[in-house]
Amino acid sequence: MGEKWVLMKTAQTPTNIAVIKYWGKRDETLILPVNDSISVTLDPAHLCTTTTVAVSPAFQQDRMWLNGKEMSLSGGRYQNCLREIRKRAREVEDKERGIKIEKKDWEKLHLHIASYNNFPTAAGLASSAAGFACLVYRTNGFGFDAVFALAKLMNVSEDESQLSAISRQGSGSACRSLFGGFVKWIMGKEDDGSDSLAVQLVDEKHWEDLFIIIAVVSSRQKETSSTSGMRESVETSSLLQHRAKEVVPKRTIQMEEAIQNRDFASFAKLACADSNQFHAVCLDTLPPIFYMNDTSHRQVLIYICWFLLGDVGEKNMYKTKEVLIEMVKSWLWDIVVLGSIPVKSRDMNLWRTTSQKSVI
Ligand code: DP6
Repeated sequence: MGEKWVLMKTAQTPTNIAVIKYWGKRDETLILPVNDSISVTLDPAHLCTTTTVAVSPAFQQDRMWLNGKEMSLSGGRYQNCLREIRKRAREVEDKERGIKIEKKDWEKLHLHIASYNNFPTAAGLASSAAGFACLVYRTNGFGFDAVFALAKLMNVSEDESQLSAISRQGSGSACRSLFGGFVKWIMGKEDDGSDSLAVQLVDEKHWEDLFIIIAVVSSRQKETSSTSGMRESVETSSLLQHRAKEVVPKRTIQMEEAIQNRDFASFAKLACADSNQFHAVCLDTLPPIFYMNDTSHRQVLIYICWFLLGDVGEKNMYKTKEVLIEMVKSWLWDIVVLGSIPVKSRDMNLWRTTSQKSVI
């Protein structure tokens, strides 16, 4: 190998929003959750992380930047992901430029990783989910973006579910970004985490008239990170134990049915109930965690597709548009609902998006 070359790969990975929340780990190192979770993958055209990974014999150490700011790579998560990807690295050859990296060379070569989010980092969107999926999501984790980009750079041949298990070790929610549409992260039973991975429930074409509005009510970084928040919940909240054992297993089955049947009324009810219970667990934690602010309490969700309003009929549980609107307004989504109407708000930044294929 000469000393002058740089090889690069860029991946663009979406974030996802959970409709059945992951909150609590049974193993902190391997990132194994206490319950299954389900999310919808958002259109990367609107919300995504773009990550470029580069390798060169000239690099003296591994380095990573997020939105232009250098991040520390000292944490175990980055090292765990990198170790798993390196184990699977294969020979790479660029004949045109006369570059050949043999499998054993990957152990010695250093990497530079640069990621950009096109949405606020650590403000409630699983930004590490986009990041570690490409590395596998990243705020305090390592994103899916980086994992994905590294896998491409190192010519890794693993399928999406296997990559999701690596992404999971960067940041839990990241493993769900490997697929488009609706995705389930199966908690798994094995102690080594080999069966804790993401599977696609339906692809992005399944529910094309579902629109998602992301309402960012604050771009400030969360005061309590997900990682430390869920650790404290596991240690102190009895509601979390009840939720993981009694509530989520049943709710996950109902949610899967609602998604399969494109049953919006059930889908919305379940997603709201789950979001509210997640926030209730946060309140039940010692010291309590507050993720919602006045804006989210006052006006979180909100806009409904005209097609949906038009669909309010005999079969629908909601009798009138007004009742439906009032009901949706009263739900406390942490993000959410449907809309095809222009959205304006003094307090919120809004994106209207759809579910899309996970990219690159
Ligand atoms: C509330 O995936 O950020 O968004 O695994 O510790 O990195 P770590 O946590 P993270 O937690 C996301 C929590 C959540 C719910 C969800 O996305 O399911």
